[in-house]
Amino acid sequence: MEATNEEQNPALRELYGRMVNNTSEAYMLPADLIEHSRLDMQHEAICIVLDGPFPRESGVHKILSPRADGYRPRVLDVGTGAGSWAIAIAKAYPHVEVLGLDLAPVNAGSSPPDNCHFEKGDAGTDLGRFGRFDVVHARAVLQGIKDFAAFFKNVSDILNPGGIFLTIEPVMELFNEAKEPFGIQEEGQPKLFKAYVEATMVEKKPWFAELPNVRFLLDNIPGRPWEAVEGNIFYLPVGPFLPDPPHRVAGELMRQACMRMPKGVQPLLLLHGYNQEDLDRWAALAEAQMKNMTVKFYMKWDSLWAINKSSE
Ligand SMILES: C[S@@+](CC[C@H](N)C(=O)[O-])C[C@H]1O[C@@H](n2cnc3c(N)ncnc32)[C@H](O)[C@@H]1O
Repeated sequence: MEATNEEQNPALRELYGRMVNNTSEAYMLPADLIEHSRLDMQHEAICIVLDGPFPRESGVHKILSPRADGYRPRVLDVGTGAGSWAIAIAKAYPHVEVLGLDLAPVNAGSSPPDNCHFEKGDAGTDLGRFGRFDVVHARAVLQGIKDFAAFFKNVSDILNPGGIFLTIEPVMELFNEAKEPFGIQEEGQPKLFKAYVEATMVEKKPWFAELPNVRFLLDNIPGRPWEAVEGNIFYLPVGPFLPDPPHRVAGELMRQACMRMPKGVQPLLLLHGYNQEDLDRWAALAEAQMKNMTVKFYMKWDSLWAINKSSE
């Protein structure tokens, strides 16, 4: 069915080719202004829920704090997207040097401060080009990494002793108000999301299936370079349904961000045999559900931080 669909519609293959980048692998969604504004909103929502751009317990704040000897810590943001995290860190820690790396050009929503720069490059092959870092951050990027073990090893090689690797990934499932996975496949947003995840899984197997095992993989890379691997989870409300004002704002930002998805995932789903009529119906329903809050849901995120060994 997929092949037939592609053969019948080369324009779709072309469009999807652009979505998944020139080497046909990495992008989930087009790296355009709409996607980057979605990422900016998601970034703001995460910062509200975490009360900052990273989990407090991760030790990142301590490692980036000013030092008596004037040392300027270096930070790498892998798969920087719109550059929102890199810019936020550069602003919060003006004595720190921040580099954002991405396959695609960064359409930064705000102008980067002088201590923030961007480079184009592939995290799979180019990590060694930029020297060593005290923090390497990778958020919602692992779908673009084919060989996790090699990537983690490369990250460890570019981290200074005691440096921190922080990875934050969405769990590919939607959660209801009780923070349980949606059991039945409800029409609209839950169904659309499930279809999207299944289609992505087919496109990206086998490594997409490894996403839930990141902690295990980090813990078990040959020569385990880490002193410790720790982490926690957090939930982002999608929609302003929580009573306290910050979480209402986070929910509204996520609602706006998620409203951009039902149309964005259509090219992928068309390639996977769904028809335009169904997709339009689901998209309309998903948008109505989010607009009217008839389905309240959370996105669950896994954050992990690995501390590089302090002696080599
Ligand atoms: C979902 S976005 C996340 C952006 C950003 N980290 C954030 O949280 O807002 C994923 C980004 O990773 C980039 N990406 C995916 N695979 C990559 C790779 N192998 N090397 C560099 N960037 C990559 C994509 O181009 C995209 O900008």
